[in-house]
Amino acid sequence: MMKTKLTELLNIQYPIIQGAMAWVSDGKLAGAVSAAGGAGTIAAGGRTAQWVKEQIEIARGITDKPFGVNIMLMAANCDEIVDVVCEAKVAYATLGAGNPVPYFEKLHNAGIKVIPVIPNVKLAKRVADKGADALIIEGMEAGGHIGKLTTMALMTQVIPEVDIPVVVAGGIAEGRGLAAALVMGAAGVQMGTRFYASEECTVHINAKNKIVEAIDTDTVVTGALHGHAVRGIQNQMTNKYLTLEKEGASESELEKLVIGTSRKAPVDGDVDWGLVQAGQSLTVINELKSCSEIIESIVAEAKKALADVQRYI
Ligand SMILES: Cc1cc2nc3c(=O)[nH]c(=O)nc-3n(C[C@H](O)[C@H](O)[C@H](O)COP(=O)(O)O)c2cc1C
Repeated sequence: MMKTKLTELLNIQYPIIQGAMAWVSDGKLAGAVSAAGGAGTIAAGGRTAQWVKEQIEIARGITDKPFGVNIMLMAANCDEIVDVVCEAKVAYATLGAGNPVPYFEKLHNAGIKVIPVIPNVKLAKRVADKGADALIIEGMEAGGHIGKLTTMALMTQVIPEVDIPVVVAGGIAEGRGLAAALVMGAAGVQMGTRFYASEECTVHINAKNKIVEAIDTDTVVTGALHGHAVRGIQNQMTNKYLTLEKEGASESELEKLVIGTSRKAPVDGDVDWGLVQAGQSLTVINELKSCSEIIESIVAEAKKALADVQRYI
């Protein structure tokens, strides 16, 4: 048990959210994380409403503890997915890639906690004013689609500005990261990459192995010049992309190279031409562990780190 404003809000044991990962985090992973005392999130990005419905059922088959769904607001079927989520009354929805405010009322009316993912102070204040229950700040160390600020810069500047619980994401992979976030005034952390390399994660083993083998310097960012920066592990596809980008290739030419790659690595296992999206804290992720081992060790490390720093007082 580790009590924070986040654990109270979501009625969970530990202040750890498994971040949504499109084509990676399904009902089985989310259910396993929630069963272990964290909060698992099903990623609806790229999926049909029916798939989301089925994954909610799968998670419910694993645990009766709270879990959530991440809704990509730019998705064409976003409204349909919001309906499924409202009907299923999951514990919370994380919202990204678009303006989350218009969805607050509907989700709240269904009894769902609303947690937008936010890239800067201005948007953090806006969603807090409009009634978000908590928010996630995600630094550019994170895997997947990223903003411009680092986790430290966001913690420094967002946390003092809002009264709602702040969850920190981006580059957190072990217990000292959780301790650091709590010391900065956060209510918890969200981790993606660490849970990608978990036993319960259902993706292709090639993609998980890529994360286990990779080290701190192995990620690159594609798409930064065209406003959709994505962090993933360097491979043949990213090398070609970045070479073409340097040579001034057109946006459509670059787009051709990346289309479908977020699926190709985790689903098909093609880690050369697909993209294993991952954050920068990779050296410390050197084995596949169960979700409960991940959570238990992070909480134990965080408690130790917090106890150790007491000596400076
Ligand atoms: C493979 C992958 C896919 C992701 N897909 C999504 C997504 O669909 N929606 C979202 O809000 N965040 C997405 N993220 C971000 C994660 O939810 C989380 O914030 C991020 O992984 C935290 O940084 P970390 O990877 O260093 O732990 C993704 C991250 C990864 C690694």
